[in-house]
Amino acid sequence: MTKSKKVFLNGKYIAADKANVSVMDRGFLFGDGIYEVIPVYQGNLFRFDSHLERLENSLNLTRIENPYSREQWREIMLPLIDSSKDQYIYFQVTRGAAEKRDHAFPAGVKPTVFMMCNDIAPFNGKEDGVKAISLIDNRWSACNIKAIALLGNILLRQQAVEHDCAEAILVREGYVTEGSASNVFAVIDGILITPPKNNFILAGITRDVILELAAANNIPFAEDVISLDALKTASEIWFASSTREILPVIELDGLPVANGKVGQLWHRMNELLQAYKTSYAASEK
Ligand SMILES: Cc1ncc(COP(=O)(O)O)c(C=O)c1O
Repeated sequence: MTKSKKVFLNGKYIAADKANVSVMDRGFLFGDGIYEVIPVYQGNLFRFDSHLERLENSLNLTRIENPYSREQWREIMLPLIDSSKDQYIYFQVTRGAAEKRDHAFPAGVKPTVFMMCNDIAPFNGKEDGVKAISLIDNRWSACNIKAIALLGNILLRQQAVEHDCAEAILVREGYVTEGSASNVFAVIDGILITPPKNNFILAGITRDVILELAAANNIPFAEDVISLDALKTASEIWFASSTREILPVIELDGLPVANGKVGQLWHRMNELLQAYKTSYAASEK
C-alpha cells in the first residue's frame, strides 16, 4: 500500500486520508471559499508574491479573513514540497464551519485552511498542439475572484472534453474572455493579443509573465478585446496557465488554426518561458 501523502489542514500536517472537514463547512455547503495554485520548480515557489497578492485580493473581495501573513504562508508550504521535482502547491481558504446553513455570513467562525502539494503532470502532446472549442461563457461576472465554486468552469471543460478538445475558449457577447481554466492569447496581424484584465477573467500569473517576456523581447503585444470572428483569423492561439504553461491550439471548432501547425511565436515564447523559469529558480537560491 502506498503511504498517504501529507497535507496541511487547520494548523496541522496530517496524512491526506486522515484529514477531515466538517459537513457544515461553508466550502462544502456553498462553495464559499477561494484558492490559489503556485508552481514549485525544483523547490522554488514561482512568483510567490504575485500569487499571494492575488490570494489577498480574492480574500478581500469575498470578505474572508486572511489567517496568515505572507511569510507564515510560505513557512506552511515548505514542509510539503519535494524539491527534486516540479510540483504545485494548491491551497484554499473557506469561510469556515457554521452551526446553521444560512447564506449570510455567520459570526465568530474561523476560516478553514487546506493545503496540498502535487507533482506537475507533464502535458503529453503539448508540442503537437491541442484542439479547442468555443462555448458561450455562462459563468457569473466575478471571475476575477479565484473562487473554489467552479461549477460553471467544470461544465464548460466537460463539454470541451466530450468534443475531444483539451480546453474551451469562452465567449461573452461575441468576445473572448478566457479558457475554462486558463487565459487565452491570439496572434492577429502579427500582434500577440490577450483580453484585458477585468471582472470577466481571472488575471493569470502566467499571462503576466508572457506579457513581460513579450515586452522584454520586442514582441509586439496588446491587451485588447478579441471577437470570436477575429479569433478565427488568428495565425496562432494559445492557452496559458500555471500547470500547463503555454499550450498551442491547432484546431478551433473543427477548423485548423492557420495551417494547423504549432506557430513560430509559440516556439519562441515557450523557449523564453523555459529560460525565465530556470533563471528565476536560480535567482531564488
Ligand atoms: C479560469 C482561469 N483563468 C486563468 C487561469 C490561469 O491562471 P494562472 O496563470 O495563474 O495559473 C486559471 C488557472 O487556473 C483559471 O482557472
